[in-house]
Amino acid sequence: MSDDFDAWCKAQALRAENALDDNLPAAGTHPAQLHEAMRYAVMGGGKRIRPLLVYAGAELSGALAPVADCAACAVEMIHAYSLVHDDLPCMDNDVMRRGKPTVHVAFGEATAMLVGDALQAQAFEVLARAALAGARPQAVVRMVAQLAQAAGSIGMAGGQAIDLQAVGQNMTQAQLQIMHEKKTGAMLRASVLLGAYGGRELSAADDQSLLQYSQALGLAFQVVDDILDVQADSSTLGKTAGKDALNDKPTYVSLLGLPASQALATQLCGEAHEALKPFGLAARRLHDLADLVVLRKS
Ligand code: IPE
Ligand code: IPE
Ligand code: MG
Ligand code: MG
Ligand code: MG
Repeated sequence: MSDDFDAWCKAQALRAENALDDNLPAAGTHPAQLHEAMRYAVMGGGKRIRPLLVYAGAELSGALAPVADCAACAVEMIHAYSLVHDDLPCMDNDVMRRGKPTVHVAFGEATAMLVGDALQAQAFEVLARAALAGARPQAVVRMVAQLAQAAGSIGMAGGQAIDLQAVGQNMTQAQLQIMHEKKTGAMLRASVLLGAYGGRELSAADDQSLLQYSQALGLAFQVVDDILDVQADSSTLGKTAGKDALNDKPTYVSLLGLPASQALATQLCGEAHEALKPFGLAARRLHDLADLVVLRKS
């Protein structure tokens, strides 16, 4: 990891927070309760890993800062919506998220559902604004399509559907990998790609390298999420630890055990680094983020 990586993360996370603040309707906007709940879901919490991936991808392609900000907000809004719905009683039934009561606990289930709906729409509005911020029109279309694909039924929402069907079931490692790539990997992959699409046009070979990087990173992220659910405590995670076993979810830990899951995360991290080789130093932050995803403690 680069010496200045910690400072870079803090600065970029703050930048994302400010952009999110600017791109969410003010809390008092009518209907006030919905807007208050949207802000509660998005602001003041979370590691902001997806925005960091956007900014690192943007650095690689030389995307303009306001364009990267639009993409960073869009991915984080979709992510925040996915967490609100993931926590609902009809899904994982969680009462704590990012160190606070979940949205449905604080505002009620109907509002939590609407927060998700509204954040998803808001994400695409903000991303469309990348065109006004100086992105090439074709790049914006590509970003919108990539985000829609990552969030939808062949991406995150599809992965969540598989996750719910899998409760109490045995899965093969191949099935588990598909579920994880969809429910979590797709949005992490999109974060890297949206950042990279916002700048100069990349060659087909560069696109392929980024795809390989982000695929390995996305899967590694959920493998580590499964590990932390077992290893970390609730106050460190900001969410209830041990929920996967309690909800009888197939995870990498339940399938392979802890040591093999850790080894897999390390292997995927190596694959992510390998994929970045053609970019040299321009991919420094993407390298750092691959390490962060695997070494993180929350
Ligand atoms: C949690 O994501 C949900 C998964 C996709 C595993 P994060 O661990 O990135 O959650 P925040 O954004 O930091 O709260
Ligand atoms: C959630 O996976 C993936 C999402 C799309 C939100 P998890 O259910 O494992 O996420 P946590 O552990 O509740 O954050
Ligand atoms: Mg879940
Ligand atoms: Mg969950
Ligand atoms: Mg989890």
